[in-house]
Amino acid sequence: MTNNTFKPCDLVIYGALGDLSKRKLLISLYRLEKNNLLEADTRIIGVDRLEETSEGFVEIAHKSLQSFLNNTIDEAMWERFSKRLSYLKIDLTQAEQYQQLHNAIDAEKRVMVNYFAVAPFLFKNICQGLQSCGILNRESRMVMEKPIGHDLKSSQEINDVVADVFHEDQVYRIDHYLGKETVLNLLALRFANSIFTTNWDHNTIDHIQITVGEDIGIEGRWEYFDKTGQLRDMLQNHLLQILTFVAMEPPADLSAANIHSEKIKVLKALRPITPNNVDDKTVRGQYTSGYIKGSAVPGYLEEEGANTESTTESFVAVRVDIDNWRWAGVPFYMRTGKRTPNKRTEIVVNFKQLPHNIFKDSFKDLPANKLVIHLQPNEGVDVMMLNKIPGIDGNIKLQQTKLDLSFSETFKKNRLFGGYEKLILEALRGNPTLFLSREEIEQAWTWVDSIQSAWAQNHSAPKPYPAGSWGPVASVALLARDGRAWEE
Ligand code: BG6
Repeated sequence: MTNNTFKPCDLVIYGALGDLSKRKLLISLYRLEKNNLLEADTRIIGVDRLEETSEGFVEIAHKSLQSFLNNTIDEAMWERFSKRLSYLKIDLTQAEQYQQLHNAIDAEKRVMVNYFAVAPFLFKNICQGLQSCGILNRESRMVMEKPIGHDLKSSQEINDVVADVFHEDQVYRIDHYLGKETVLNLLALRFANSIFTTNWDHNTIDHIQITVGEDIGIEGRWEYFDKTGQLRDMLQNHLLQILTFVAMEPPADLSAANIHSEKIKVLKALRPITPNNVDDKTVRGQYTSGYIKGSAVPGYLEEEGANTESTTESFVAVRVDIDNWRWAGVPFYMRTGKRTPNKRTEIVVNFKQLPHNIFKDSFKDLPANKLVIHLQPNEGVDVMMLNKIPGIDGNIKLQQTKLDLSFSETFKKNRLFGGYEKLILEALRGNPTLFLSREEIEQAWTWVDSIQSAWAQNHSAPKPYPAGSWGPVASVALLARDGRAWEE
């Protein structure tokens, strides 16, 4: 997956004084430093429109670490890290100001990696500014992350703007879930273990559930979130990415091209949602006031800055059918919401029930095996199995037991890295495997647009659910109609 000869980089962060840079990027870069993962000659150049000096930027970075690192700063490491930092004041809308990058960038010695940590409306300016100052070469890269549009059309517009300047193999589109250890472990679990490679289709699997719940609400992001909604904010990207890793065919190898092409095949096979089936297949919810871990929290419409008429969803559940040979008849149920009782991201693979039960004394209906893959908060994998309860009386009594492969226990010595650290490192190393191709994003939008437009045509309003619950009752009914229930 990774090649081992890396060139140092000039990492230019556009929007260096913004939230993403301060909360995530600088923290992740420092952690990479601490683990000796940054090339000795790699430099970090912060670009923003505010008046600031390189010394000031270093101070801002230090303060960010104090606020968001959740750990003490190792002063020796900080010393080394801070030497990499410098700052340029550039108004990104003014093409001539990009000339300043000429003095800062050393294209002979380093690869220029351009991290667009700004709103997409500035992408065009940055691309044109970089092009007009003639600083890019075929090695240069650009990194961007969601939101890449709010539907297929706007996403194509962003991708077109970028494609005018960067070739597709120079573009690194981040979905931070693809940096999460457990998502990557899906590749190992599925394609390195014969018990799963041979038991991973409609013959053995009954259905699959993907849950991404967060106990937090909108966290001061009302304006962004209200225009976006949970479908576009979480399902279009993070949940569909998890789904593609669970559902794809084995790629020929771990190259980016082969992994992307298998993921795209899954996205193309998603059965579209139409105005006729949208009410049976999807649920939209919006939280009302309630309690999270014993504390009272306001409803979505009572959040600061809220438009009290809003019909944006903060919860969505969907039954997904994948129309291909492997998954015919195996529904994937996905749900994601804000203000769920706790933070929980997991995949539950429910295997089929056995055709005949010879252990009726223990269980009238033998529970089927389950594979539970926890992404958050504790990474790990459980297999739910039946075992005989030890004993010498003649009866064989069974009990359901959990084979627990928790990562923190099994890999005690290995520190688990955050998604951003992994992805930034891969972008610096020039390994595109864990990034999204243009076609993937556009295919995901095509399917999500089918839901959004079916909702619009049916004027479907979100159903209320109290904060601290797993969504509206309709979400329970979505599975109950099929004789199934969410994993609780
Ligand atoms: C972001 C969404 O992409 O992912 C946020 O915009 C969400 O709304 C966040 O809170 C969740 O990420 P994680 O890694 O905490 O699960």
